[in-house]
Amino acid sequence: MAKEIYETPLEALEATNGFYKDLEGFQYSEDQVTKWLDKHIKLPRVGNVLDLCCGDGIWSKGMKILNPNLEYFGIDISSGAIEKARILMESDSQHFVIGDAEGKLPFEDSFFDVIFARGPGLYNQHSMDRLATIKIIEDWHNKLSDRGLFYSIFASTPEKMGTYTPMNQVKLPYNRSPRKTEAVDFLGGKYHHNIESFLTPFWKAENVKLVSYSFVNNMHVLVTKKDNK
Ligand SMILES: C[S@@+](CC[C@H](N)C(=O)[O-])C[C@H]1O[C@@H](n2cnc3c(N)ncnc32)[C@H](O)[C@@H]1O
Repeated sequence: MAKEIYETPLEALEATNGFYKDLEGFQYSEDQVTKWLDKHIKLPRVGNVLDLCCGDGIWSKGMKILNPNLEYFGIDISSGAIEKARILMESDSQHFVIGDAEGKLPFEDSFFDVIFARGPGLYNQHSMDRLATIKIIEDWHNKLSDRGLFYSIFASTPEKMGTYTPMNQVKLPYNRSPRKTEAVDFLGGKYHHNIESFLTPFWKAENVKLVSYSFVNNMHVLVTKKDNK
C-alpha cells in the first residue's frame, strides 16, 4: 500500500519506480490509447517521435501500433517507468532514457517530428507563468523539426479548475511530495488548469506558435510548433 505523502521528492521517486514496476501503473489498455491517439494525433509517415515523460510507454506503444515506421524515443525520470517502456517498445537505452525532462534533454535540436507530452510533471504546478518554466517550454520546442508538432495533453476537471487535488488523493507517488526548483513551484498533488493558466506560458514563449487547442473529455489538448520567426 503506497504511503499517503512523501517527505522528499527522492523518496516519492523511489515509490514511483515501484508504482510502475511492482504495481500496475496507470493501466491504460492498448485499445484505449490507440483509439484516442488515432482521433487526436497526426503522425507523419516517417520521422522521429519523442514521448516526453513517457511513463511505462503505453502511449508510445499506441503510436507504434498506428505507425510502426516511425522511430520512437521516450524520457522519464522514473527508472521503473523506463524499464517497462523498454520492454513494451522492444527498445533500448538509446531510445528510452532515464532523465529529467526539466533539465537539458539528451537529444539534438530539430530532431523530432512529433513530441507527445501527456501529463508531464511540469504541468502539475499552479503557476506555469514564470520565466524559468517558459524557458523549459522553449527548450522543448527547440527539439522540434520545422514540420514538427508538439502535443501537450493535460487532464483538468472543470469543477476543480484553479484548485489542487491534494497529495494524498493523486495516483502517482511522485506527485505526493512538494517539489520546488526554479522551473517548478509545485506544492504536490495535481493542479487543475483552466484554459488561461494552461496556455499562458505557451503564448509567452518566444519560439512557440499555437496550432490548435481543444478541451476534450476533461483534457486540455494543445498543439504547438516551433516558431522560427
Ligand atoms: C501523469 S504521469 C504520465 C505518464 C504518461 N505520459 C501517461 O500519460 O501515461 C507523469 C510522468 O512524468 C514523469 N515525470 C515527472 N516529472 C518528470 C521530469 N522532471 N522529468 C521526466 N519525467 C518526469 C513521472 O515519472 C511520470 O511517469
